[in-house]
Amino acid sequence: MSIHKSELKKITTHQFQEMKNRGEKISMLTAYDYSMAKILDSAGIDVLLVGDSASNVMAGHETTLPITLDQMIYHASSVVRAVERALVIVDIPFGSYQGNSTEALRSAIRIMKESGAHGVKMEGGSEIRASVERVLTAGVPVMGHLGLTPQSIFKFGTYTVRAKEEQEAERLMEDAKVLEECGCFGIVLEKIPASLAQKVAREVSIPIIGIGAGVGVDGQVLVMQDVLGITKEFQPRFLRRYADLHTTITEAIVGYIKDVKSESFPNEREQY
Ligand code: KIV
Repeated sequence: MSIHKSELKKITTHQFQEMKNRGEKISMLTAYDYSMAKILDSAGIDVLLVGDSASNVMAGHETTLPITLDQMIYHASSVVRAVERALVIVDIPFGSYQGNSTEALRSAIRIMKESGAHGVKMEGGSEIRASVERVLTAGVPVMGHLGLTPQSIFKFGTYTVRAKEEQEAERLMEDAKVLEECGCFGIVLEKIPASLAQKVAREVSIPIIGIGAGVGVDGQVLVMQDVLGITKEFQPRFLRRYADLHTTITEAIVGYIKDVKSESFPNEREQY
C-alpha cells in the first residue's frame, strides 16, 4: 500500500534525529534512478541513499572506486527529481574528499548545487575529520560511514566483518564519537558485530543506521537491487530479499520474446 499525497511530510535531518529520539526505526534504501526512486518514495521510505554502490549495481564495476563525481551527480539529480518525501543523501565518491578538505568542500557543494540533494555521506573517521568539518562549515549535512568502508577495500583486502577485535572496536567507537562531535547528522555502520553496533547507537546521540550490524541500531539500509532480488550472486548473511525480481523480469522478457517471434504481439487492439 502506498502513502497518499496528503499524508506526505518531508523528512529533514531534524526529523531524522527526532525519529531516534522517540525510538522510531529509520528505513533507508539505495536508489540511483528516477523510476525506482519514485516507487520507493511513494511506498514511504524515509531515506534514499544515492550510494557509490551505483558503481557496482548500475555500472558493473567490481568496486566502488571507479565512479566519478559527475556520475554521482547524474544519479543523484535523477533521484531528487522523483522524490516528494524522502531525505536524499549522496555518497561523495572515492578521490573527491580524502586528504584534501578544499576538494571535499568543492565536491559537496557541486553535489548539493547540481543535484538538489539534502546531504552527503563520507567514509572514514578521524582521518577525514578535516574534510568533514570543512563540508559542515558550508551548511551541508554530513553522514559518516564506519566499519566496512568499501572505498578502502584495497587497504583491507576483503569484505569480511570488521571490528571483531577489541582494538578495532575501540577505534570504531572513538571514530563514531569524533563524527558526532564534528556535527555529523548520522552514521552508517557496515558489517560489524551487532553488540558493538548497539553500543555505538546507545553511546552517541545521532542516529546510527546499520547494514549487517544487527537490530540494536536506529535504522537499517540495504542496496535496493539486493532487497528486490535483482542481483542473484550477492548473498551475504545480513541480506533479506523481499522479492525475486530476477525471476519475474526473466519470465516477463521470455514471454515478450515468444510473443514477438510468434506474432501474437501486437494484436488488433494494440495497433492503430
Ligand atoms: O554505497 C552504498 O550503497 C552504501 C551502503 C551500502 C550503505 O554506502
